[in-house]
Amino acid sequence: MIIEPRMRGFICLTSHPKGSEQNVKNQIEYIKSKGPIDGAKKVLVIGASTGFGLASRITSAFGSDAATIGVFFEKPPVEGKTASPGWYNSAAFETEAHKAGLYAKSINGDAFSNEIKRQTLDLIKADLGQVDLIIYSLASPVRLHPVTGVLHRSVLKPIGQTFTNKTVDFHTGNVTEVSIAPANDEDITNTVAVMGGEDWTMWIDALKAENLLAEGATTVAYSYIGPSLTEAVYRKGTIGRAKDDLEATAFSITDSLKSIGGKAYVSVNKALVTQASSAIPVIPLYISLLYKIMKEEGIHEGCIEQIQRLFKDRLYSGSDVPVDEKGRIRIDDWEMRDDVQEKVAKLWLEATTETLPSIGDLAGYRNDFLNLFGFEFAGVDYAADTNEVVGIESIK
Ligand code: NAI
Ligand code: NA
Repeated sequence: MIIEPRMRGFICLTSHPKGSEQNVKNQIEYIKSKGPIDGAKKVLVIGASTGFGLASRITSAFGSDAATIGVFFEKPPVEGKTASPGWYNSAAFETEAHKAGLYAKSINGDAFSNEIKRQTLDLIKADLGQVDLIIYSLASPVRLHPVTGVLHRSVLKPIGQTFTNKTVDFHTGNVTEVSIAPANDEDITNTVAVMGGEDWTMWIDALKAENLLAEGATTVAYSYIGPSLTEAVYRKGTIGRAKDDLEATAFSITDSLKSIGGKAYVSVNKALVTQASSAIPVIPLYISLLYKIMKEEGIHEGCIEQIQRLFKDRLYSGSDVPVDEKGRIRIDDWEMRDDVQEKVAKLWLEATTETLPSIGDLAGYRNDFLNLFGFEFAGVDYAADTNEVVGIESIK
C-alpha cells in the first residue's frame, strides 16, 4: 500500500515505517556528530518510543554506548493498517542499536500496570543486573490505577475561572478565540493521578526493593513551565498541578535513594510539537510564534538537540548538575530568554488568520507534526508501495 497522512482532528491515523526509520536515523546521526558523552551504561527509559523519551534512548545508546530497555505503549501493525509511529521508531531504533553491537530490548504495554513493571524488573534482573539511569517520560491521557482499579482521565483545563485566548487550528491556519471552562476538584485529582509523580515513585520503589538500582543511580522526569501567555491553561491549570506534584516527587525519591547515593531530577524542557502538545488549546499558536523567533535567533531545538544538551551539559558534564532555585534542571533556558519571550508576546497581539503565515512558523509546525508520524522526511520514497509488516526485533 501507499501510505499517506490521514488526519482526524488533531491526530494522524496513519504512520510511515520508512519515514519513522529515517527520523530515528537522523537523530542517531545527530548524536554521533556531537561526540561521546560520559554517561550511564545501563538505561531504562519509560516512555521510550516517541518525543523526549525516544531522544533519551538514542542519546544514551549512541552517545554513551549504553544498553537500553525501552518501555512504551504502541500499536503494532496489522494487515492493511499501519502501526502507531512509536512502534516503527522502536523497531528502527533496535535494528540500529543491534547493528552497532548495543544491547536493546523493548517492552510494549501499560507502564502504569503491575504486570509491565514485573516484566521490566525480570528483564533487568536477567540481562543487565542493575540500571544506573531511569528516564521517566510518559505522556498519557489515562491511567488505570494498579491499586484502586480506578481509571483516571487527565484534562487540560484552567483552574478557578474560564480562560479565553487565541488559538490556531494548525491544519487550516484559522486563528480564533477559544474559551475553556474551569476544572472541578475531580478533574484536578484525576490529572495529578495520571501525570503526577505517583507512578514514577512506584517504579523507583519497585526497582529499589529488588536491588536493581546501581550505586549512585540517577532518575530524571520531564516537566514544562512556559510563559505567562499559556499559564492559565498550562502551568496554573490542571496539568500544572500534575507537574507540581511530579517536581515535588523528585525530592521524595532523592530521599528514598540516599542509601545508594542516588538522585532524582526533574528537567524542564522546551515547548515542542508532539502528539500531546498538539491537543492543548493555545499551545500550537504559541509554538508557531516561538519557533519563528527561535529559528531567527539560531537557537531552535527539537527533542534530540534538547536531550543531547541535557546529557552533555547538565547531567554528565563532569561537574555538579546545575539546577534552579527549585532544584530543577533547565533546558528551557533559551525558550524562556527575556528577548525571545518579549518578541513572542508582541507577535501574539498581532496574530490573526491573515498575519500568522508570515509572522509565525505555521509551516514549521505542520512539518514537525507530520514528522511525528514519519511523513515529510527527505530521502524517503513516499510513492513506493510499502507492504512490509514491521516487527521489533526483541518483541516479534
Ligand atoms: P510523547 O507523546 O511523544 O511520548 C509519550 C511516551 O509515553 C510514548 O513513548 C508512549 O508510548 C508512552 N506511553 C504513553 N502511555 C503509556 C502507558 N500507559 N504505558 C507505557 N507507555 C506509555 O510525549 P512527550 O512530549 O515526549 O512527553 C514526555 C514528557 O515530556 C511528558 O512528561 C511531557 O509533559 C514532558 N514535556 C513535554 C513537552 C512538549 O512540549 N511536548 C515540553 C516539556 C515537557
Ligand atoms: Na517520550
